Amino acid sequence: MLELRDIHKHWNGQPLLRGVSLGVAAGETVALLGASGSGKSTLLKIVAGLEAPESGQVWFDHTDITALPPERRGFALMFQDFALFPHLNVRDNVAFGLIEQGHRRAQAREQAEALLAPWGLAAHARARVWTLSGGEQQRVALARALITRPRVLLLDEPFSALDAALREQLRAEFAERIGAAGMAAVLVTHDETEARGMAQRAWTLRGGRLESAW
Ligand SMILES: Nc1ncnc2c1ncn2[C@@H]1O[C@H](COP(=O)(O)OP(=O)(O)OP(=O)(O)O)[C@@H](O)[C@H]1O
Ligand SMILES: [Mg+2]
Repeated sequence: MLELRDIHKHWNGQPLLRGVSLGVAAGETVALLGASGSGKSTLLKIVAGLEAPESGQVWFDHTDITALPPERRGFALMFQDFALFPHLNVRDNVAFGLIEQGHRRAQAREQAEALLAPWGLAAHARARVWTLSGGEQQRVALARALITRPRVLLLDEPFSALDAALREQLRAEFAERIGAAGMAAVLVTHDETEARGMAQRAWTLRGGRLESAW
């Protein structure tokens, strides 16, 4: 269980997060809606450990992890601009997280290829990532996030660079894969339909606080 407890944060002297509390259980996806600039990405960065809250805590499974560095949280992030490594091929992008965790390269690559096959990406395993379509690149990014079996998956506008038809197609596919992987997931999105298609619950960040969206 991921838990945010009374998170506060200012930006440029203005209150941005004014007491945000949220719980996300394993196997559950929660959507975060809210206007541009309302602090959604900042909140995700606090969960990831990339930014520190001024007060309040981040807990995971009864442990306060507020001071734990990002690489020790076992969380995975996926942002809109893919953030794949352009100099690596598809397979090595996916294998990267495992190699970083200390797995042997050959074994990590084997696992990456096994993951890519059912995603329709086997034929692209040795291709440079920038030769793939936008939708294919997002699948690679999700595969790279899931291969390490993260405890929490954080998605920040994962489909915003894609056209409407592709968004719709990936929505169902991603929801299924995330559900099968079974971790707690937080999805930031502007798109209420996307939130309904992928999340079990949704909150709107407004005036620095979370309001139940549905
Ligand atoms: N490093 C930072 N830490 C905190 N706040 C920041 C930082 N950089 C910029 N801000 C400001 O904080 C506010 C919230 O930004 P944030 O990116 O969290 O909003 P957002 O809800 O994700 O918006 P969008 O929907 O446009 O992505 C903005 O006014 C932004 O300019
Ligand atoms: Mg944002």
